[in-house]
Amino acid sequence: MPPRTTLWPQDEQTQGKHLVLRSYLDGWFPILGSWNNRLLFIDGFAGPGEYDHGEPGSPVIGLDCVKRCKIAGGLEGVEVVSVFIESDKGRFKHLESLMKKREREDGKHGIEHQVLYGSFDDHMTLLLDYLDQQNQNLAPAFVMIDPFGVKGSRMGLIERILGNPRSECMISFMYEPIRRFQSRPEFEQPLDQLFGDTSWRECLNMEEKASKSFLHGLFRKRLKACGAKHVVLFEVWRENRHIYTIYFATGHEKGCDLMKQAIWKADPSGGYAVRGYAGRHGVLFGADTEPLAKQLRDHFGNAPTPIEDIEQFVMSDATVFHKGQLRQKTLARLERKARISVHRPQGSRGFPSGRGITIQFC
Ligand SMILES: C[S@@+](CC[C@H](N)C(=O)[O-])C[C@H]1O[C@@H](n2cnc3c(N)ncnc32)[C@H](O)[C@@H]1O
Repeated sequence: MPPRTTLWPQDEQTQGKHLVLRSYLDGWFPILGSWNNRLLFIDGFAGPGEYDHGEPGSPVIGLDCVKRCKIAGGLEGVEVVSVFIESDKGRFKHLESLMKKREREDGKHGIEHQVLYGSFDDHMTLLLDYLDQQNQNLAPAFVMIDPFGVKGSRMGLIERILGNPRSECMISFMYEPIRRFQSRPEFEQPLDQLFGDTSWRECLNMEEKASKSFLHGLFRKRLKACGAKHVVLFEVWRENRHIYTIYFATGHEKGCDLMKQAIWKADPSGGYAVRGYAGRHGVLFGADTEPLAKQLRDHFGNAPTPIEDIEQFVMSDATVFHKGQLRQKTLARLERKARISVHRPQGSRGFPSGRGITIQFC
């Protein structure tokens, strides 16, 4: 059951989600800020801004990422607007006064924010309608859609957001509540809205494993149909229970790659299953990149291929690996084992970043 109180205890799975969020935004703001003069961080299901022992909620995490980026000298001349939407009056008021307190104690750091009372759907629809009337696109936006259950997020709205080419969505897909309540009549309509049609109902007669895989595949397909070029997902677990899955939908492989890096940081085993700080386990020898090597061999065959084409493939959602795992951790190893031949510009050695290297798989 979702909490009824204004604040509630932070659980392990929320820590895992925040770990990935923080890590992603720490990369997103500087990258997007280097070629845009306006950025939007929209937290559609913002919560009260903190948990009952003062742990930061997603609005505070987002603002702290902006602040860190500004202090490090990024975001020069960039207007970052943060919009927090919360439909519970008590939590809205708590968030509003928390934001005022932060400004009083810590200053504004040139960061603008708005706290809005009401539903994500209403506020986001108003904003998108306004932009449509003005014939304008949304500024590059990171939109977080993080409800407690299945109500309040609808595929039609996600489609409108993703219709803006530089927008991305991070969506909590509440797998456990969906599994528990999917056969109750009152959940039919919210689930139809979440998936954008009634096709999810095919899972009702399936075994649990088949149903899980069907629903996750369907949600991914629906996001792709809504215009997401790349969709990355990771599971959030509490002990041995899969509680929800976070979907990340973006139009750019840079965003996709950055999100994969953030997920690997939270789960260094590469299992895409994040368990909060308590569940972080050391991986002594680093990631096993052999599956990536096999995937690259299958995909590119033995045609000579520019390294940047391989890099673009690795950054996309076609693989679970990220760009930082390609040159030294995969290609250098394959070359040592004579599994690739490498054609370099004269005088060049190793796999320095940049162009000019051609790879041929043996
Ligand atoms: C899972 S909590 C958000 C946690 C927060 N994103 C974080 O990570 O710290 C979901 C919040 O959304 C609010 N909420 C529920 N339905 C909503 C809606 N339709 N629009 C906006 N907020 C909603 C709830 O009151 C609750 O505070």
